[in-house]
Amino acid sequence: MLAPGLVTLRFHNPKVARETIAGQFVNVLPKAGAIDPMLRRPFSVYNTDGDEAEIIIQAHGRGTNILADTAEGEMLDVLGPLGNPWNYKSGDFKTAVLVIGGVGVASMLLLTRALVKEGLPVQSYYGARTKDLLALQDLTNLHVATDDGSEGFHGSVINMLRKDLEARKIEQPKLFVCGPTGMMRAAAVLAAEYGIPCEVSLETEMACGIGICQGCPVPTDDTTFQKTGKRFRLVCMDGPSFSAETITI
Ligand SMILES: Cc1cc2nc3c(=O)[nH]c(=O)nc-3n(C[C@H](O)[C@H](O)[C@H](O)COP(=O)(O)OP(=O)(O)OC[C@H]3O[C@@H](n4cnc5c(N)ncnc54)[C@H](O)[C@@H]3O)c2cc1C
Ligand code: FES
Repeated sequence: MLAPGLVTLRFHNPKVARETIAGQFVNVLPKAGAIDPMLRRPFSVYNTDGDEAEIIIQAHGRGTNILADTAEGEMLDVLGPLGNPWNYKSGDFKTAVLVIGGVGVASMLLLTRALVKEGLPVQSYYGARTKDLLALQDLTNLHVATDDGSEGFHGSVINMLRKDLEARKIEQPKLFVCGPTGMMRAAAVLAAEYGIPCEVSLETEMACGIGICQGCPVPTDDTTFQKTGKRFRLVCMDGPSFSAETITI
């Protein structure tokens, strides 16, 4: 238990633990062996260690509440790794700026490790409702914002980042964003304003997680539509991370 309603599940799964690349996710049945709820729920792979992997569950609906109550030793039914990794080798930036909202932190630990391994500087801007909901493990160069002012900057993580962009404190940044939809939209607008690349990892509702059900569409922007003829992309197969300018969040 990281905080009330925020639970880490650690499970043995050599395939997920050894093959996951930062940004990929797993699709997990709320209750292994049960037919109700029938649909899996997607979760970012938060951490890997040997043959073990970890996910963070923010319990708020039926499936996440069941998962958060998983007892030690209980079996999990996990499909993955799925989706595409973060595009951290795009070569169009000097500083990786991780913009994190709430449980979006789950896709940032492996990304931090990958960026550090590439020798790229990382700045992490992390916002949460209150300090008890922060999962700070292994994040580097942290700038924390809380809605209630209990830790760090009092206010939104986007406003905190805006001040540093205005002050030109960050050399040739690229934003890697994961969090609530409103925050990702605000980050995309901010990036467009400053003309900097921005990638967002979407947390859309999903069912199959493997491109069959067409249940996770995200609309493309007009230019991408004109170029590709595709009005929608699938978050599970084409994402979950997208260049912010190519989609409509
Ligand atoms: C790539 C990715 C990574 C994520 N990572 C995390 C994470 O690390 N931690 C975390 O806490 N959350 C994460 N989420 C969000 C998490 O998957 C949801 O919070 C969770 O699915 C909600 O399940 P629930 O049963 O509690 O919610 P409920 O609202 O009770 O149910 C949601 C479920 O309803 C069904 N559903 C609703 N709309 C549709 C639709 N349009 N198409 C198909 N099925 C539908 C699906 O079964 C869906 O899973 C992630 C989401 C994505 C896409
Ligand atoms: S969740 Fe089924 S196609 Fe994406």
